[in-house]
Amino acid sequence: MRLRDQVMLMPRNNWDYGFGALYAALAGLRTGGTQAAGIERLFDQRPVWTTSGRASLYAILKSLHLPAGANVGVPLFCCSVVSDAICQAGLTPRYLDSGVEDYNVSAEDIDRKRADLATVIAVHMFGHPCDMDAIAAVTDSLPVIEDCAQSLFSTYKDKPTGLLSTAAFFSFRCGKYLSAGEGSAILCADPGLRRRIAETVETFEPWSGPSMLAHALSTFAKATLYHRPWYGLVGYPVGTRLDQKLNLTAKSGFDAKQIAATHLALIETRIAGFEEKIEIQREHARMLLGELAPHGFSLPAENDGCHANWQQFALRFHDTARRDQMAQHLFSKGIDTSKYLDNIAEEARAHYGYTGDCPNAEALAKTVLLVPIHYSLRTRDIETMARAINEAAANI
Ligand SMILES: Cc1ncc(COP(=O)(O)O)c(C=O)c1O
Repeated sequence: MRLRDQVMLMPRNNWDYGFGALYAALAGLRTGGTQAAGIERLFDQRPVWTTSGRASLYAILKSLHLPAGANVGVPLFCCSVVSDAICQAGLTPRYLDSGVEDYNVSAEDIDRKRADLATVIAVHMFGHPCDMDAIAAVTDSLPVIEDCAQSLFSTYKDKPTGLLSTAAFFSFRCGKYLSAGEGSAILCADPGLRRRIAETVETFEPWSGPSMLAHALSTFAKATLYHRPWYGLVGYPVGTRLDQKLNLTAKSGFDAKQIAATHLALIETRIAGFEEKIEIQREHARMLLGELAPHGFSLPAENDGCHANWQQFALRFHDTARRDQMAQHLFSKGIDTSKYLDNIAEEARAHYGYTGDCPNAEALAKTVLLVPIHYSLRTRDIETMARAINEAAANI
């Protein structure tokens, strides 16, 4: 790659953690954090806080008091840290298939496997709400947990995701909306279950002052490398070589920790007015939907009654070769994309007992390509990307 292209490489994710964020986070060290009333106002409910989505899911599962080893229905087409949390809680992932149109868990597959399940996790994938009515119809008395790691500010039938199930959790890790370093909020309307969740989280390890400081500084350094010009020069080449070995972006591992005051302070600073940023991202999605000519791939769409936050923009190719050629072409044009979940079926088979009954999810894993539309990009970037995708699609 030429130096100019390296300098201009468009990052696949948005690590929005600059000097302002560092300052706000460090202020939390002094004040001990706040109760992040912004999130409470948004949902009209006081959340329980933990350090991560995976820790929140663990706390919810522990608090449901399910029999040891019970099956937790979880979409195969989902981040593997969710399976980690299930196993840490002494339970067993029972994989569910997804719909190929919206990438979300299939209510029909839940229905088929219903007798095996003690609870179901509904992941609002890429910020597109699941069909919660269809899920409720097939789960009846089973507790349903919403995974809102990617769906802050998405709505289903005018209700925000997070308020549509037995309990829900968000993630504010860098790369997700709010990009607070780490952090997660649990929502639960049932007072008894909420109390048990809060008690479970109280047993989690708190952050020490020095560890919060070190985490804020290392997040700031990593975020710098996730921005132009450093991304193409350092972040990308180092990340692709060392991410798996050093777990730089926390794609695996599990710490049952409380939330850090630094994360809480930044969440509180950012939440007011954050929907304006999401509107920019929604506008980027609208631009791409208007400009892309889908040859050899399908465009994402919102389901009826749903308003997505467009946390990710996923193209689904008709085969793996076309997806991989598109990724290569976009990279040569200075656009980094993500073959998110490419190896999820292999990983789930090797580590979590997946038996191979989720054909749609396996196909999605090998054909989906995420292209960047984050709010930090400029309109010009989105136009460049639309041209590059159309150009490649015509030639592949
Ligand atoms: C769908 C989904 N669920 C859960 C998580 C876990 O969140 P966290 O990284 O905060 O543990 C993530 C992100 O990693 C995710 O994308």
